[in-house]
Amino acid sequence: MRIGFIGAGRVGTAFGIYLKNRGFQLSGYLSRSLHSAKTAAELTDSQVYSNDVSLVKDSDLLFITCNDDQIESVARNIFSTGNSLKNRSFAHMSGALSSASLVCLQEMGAYIYSVHPMQSFADVTKSVEDLSNTTFGIEGPQQLEKIVSLLKKTGNNHLVLSPDQKTEYHIASCVVSNYLTALLSFGFNMMQSIGITQSTAISALAPMINGTIRNIIRTGPEKALTGPIARGDVETIIKHLQVFNAARTDESDTYKLLGRLTLALAQKEILKEKNKIEMLTKLLT
Ligand SMILES: NC(=O)c1ccc[n+]([C@@H]2O[C@H](COP(=O)([O-])OP(=O)(O)OC[C@H]3O[C@@H](n4cnc5c(N)ncnc54)[C@H](OP(=O)(O)O)[C@@H]3O)[C@@H](O)[C@H]2O)c1
Repeated sequence: MRIGFIGAGRVGTAFGIYLKNRGFQLSGYLSRSLHSAKTAAELTDSQVYSNDVSLVKDSDLLFITCNDDQIESVARNIFSTGNSLKNRSFAHMSGALSSASLVCLQEMGAYIYSVHPMQSFADVTKSVEDLSNTTFGIEGPQQLEKIVSLLKKTGNNHLVLSPDQKTEYHIASCVVSNYLTALLSFGFNMMQSIGITQSTAISALAPMINGTIRNIIRTGPEKALTGPIARGDVETIIKHLQVFNAARTDESDTYKLLGRLTLALAQKEILKEKNKIEMLTKLLT
């Protein structure tokens, strides 16, 4: 099986290197710029392509790893060549879109899939390492056997999804990755507001961040929760809220919203005292 890529960005390049390292044969890369395609092709001992006709001809499985808003138009360009795509497979790697974005290729005889790595690809080298323990969310209208067997060979786990689950699945992925990043940045900013630089704050808080994540993974969020809300420590929350003066309403709103989520979680396993729950609910509303 020869595997090709349209879109030589972070995901296309990292996944190509990952597949090559596991003994798969790559046809090569086509990208918007020749420079990106050349770089990825060099890293994977594969070819640079300047048009989709020859890349499709040379590939049994093609990953469309361009930006989400380009996936459909890349698929339509392949469709418009009018060539039969019988026995060829196409997959995009977007978390937000379902395989329906590739439906025109199915009309030409192709198998279509969405194959989403549940991982954050910030840089190529680190992403190649991270891929070895990444789970993939996979979905498609036909049998998923080809993708399942590829992931078995690479040693990756997968979750099978239906097209109508894809958006909620993607919200979940964004919340635990992107929103977690924004949340940590909120904490670092609070440190900066008392004169502690971001790099000092990151070093100082890193053991607590890592410990918290380890606990969540080990026991689940209900048991891992600690802190003043879990303890029903009303006075501490009053003190926290007093910090947010009129000029800091965004921070106060964020604190209260997250506080309400924390309170709901605390009530599942840890916090059972009704009067404390009522007082905290009032403070955080
Ligand atoms: N980054 C993540 O953390 C992550 C995680 C999971 C899934 N994904 C998914 O993976 C896919 C790729 O994301 P990415 O982060 O790798 O993006 P990226 O680094 O921005 O790379 C996208 C690449 O697509 C190329 N491209 C854009 N339009 C094109 C077109 N019309 N034809 C051919 N190539 C085109 C660009 O080319 P040039 O460089 O040549 O200009 C760029 O290299 C997306 O579907 C994304 O949702 C991303």
